[in-house]
Amino acid sequence: MLKFTPDTNVLVLTGAGISAESGIRTFRDSGGLWENHRVEDVATPEAFNSNPVKVWEFYRQRYQDSISSKPNPAHFALVKLEQFLGDNFLLVTQNVDCLHIKAGSKRVLEMHGSLANCICTKCHSKLAIKDIDLTQPIPLCPFCNGFLRPDIVWFGEIPHYLSIIDDALRKCSVFIIVGTSGVVYPAAGFVLTAKLMGAKTIAINLEKPDNLAYIDEFYQGKSGEILPGLVAMWIGE
Ligand code: APR
Repeated sequence: MLKFTPDTNVLVLTGAGISAESGIRTFRDSGGLWENHRVEDVATPEAFNSNPVKVWEFYRQRYQDSISSKPNPAHFALVKLEQFLGDNFLLVTQNVDCLHIKAGSKRVLEMHGSLANCICTKCHSKLAIKDIDLTQPIPLCPFCNGFLRPDIVWFGEIPHYLSIIDDALRKCSVFIIVGTSGVVYPAAGFVLTAKLMGAKTIAINLEKPDNLAYIDEFYQGKSGEILPGLVAMWIGE
């Protein structure tokens, strides 16, 4: 049975599945549509260029959903794991819903951005969404009047923190993946680096992920039901 000590270096990658039990719909579980939209129509830079009003309509709703949702036992289990491991823990999330931070996780990298922020397309200022006037069809920058866009890494854009994540993948002795289909790169390829560099790889997912071949231990089911027990076992509770 796997046991962690406070010296075990653990990297965790999460995806939409960890937030499913908080009521946030995952991407690929809804028949190729995301909240009834084609991803290309709302989550690409091209979509924003051609129809910023529609893209803002979509993200305004995602923002409201994130405000009204609450972390579930899987998010809290990762907080507990971080409290046990301290600086030997790092959480990388593809989610933009802020639920890890709401749960209390501190060492979190939001590699696909965050619904909590937006960026000016002209002067590149970063602002908290709570501080801007969301009633405008296209919210404008208070500094330069440029169009604001959600701080989301869209398809075709480069995720944040890739160099820090690469270092962490090479350093970790255990790599844990929770609630991600293993379809969208580069995140889907992280497991390969971790495994080739000697880490033990573990996944918790409702369905078999696409990168299952690189997983040493796979737990199939809901992360809110499975992860709390696993964390308790790993930290010897
Ligand atoms: N517990 C664990 N896993 C779950 C649960 C649950 N309660 N519910 C669903 N899942 C699993 C599904 O079986 C699926 O494999 O979570 C996975 C979610 O996969 P996706 O919807 O593809 O989400 P994700 O992997 O995070 O997508 C990656 O793609 O759309 C882009 O940028 C977006 O960050 C996103 C990226």
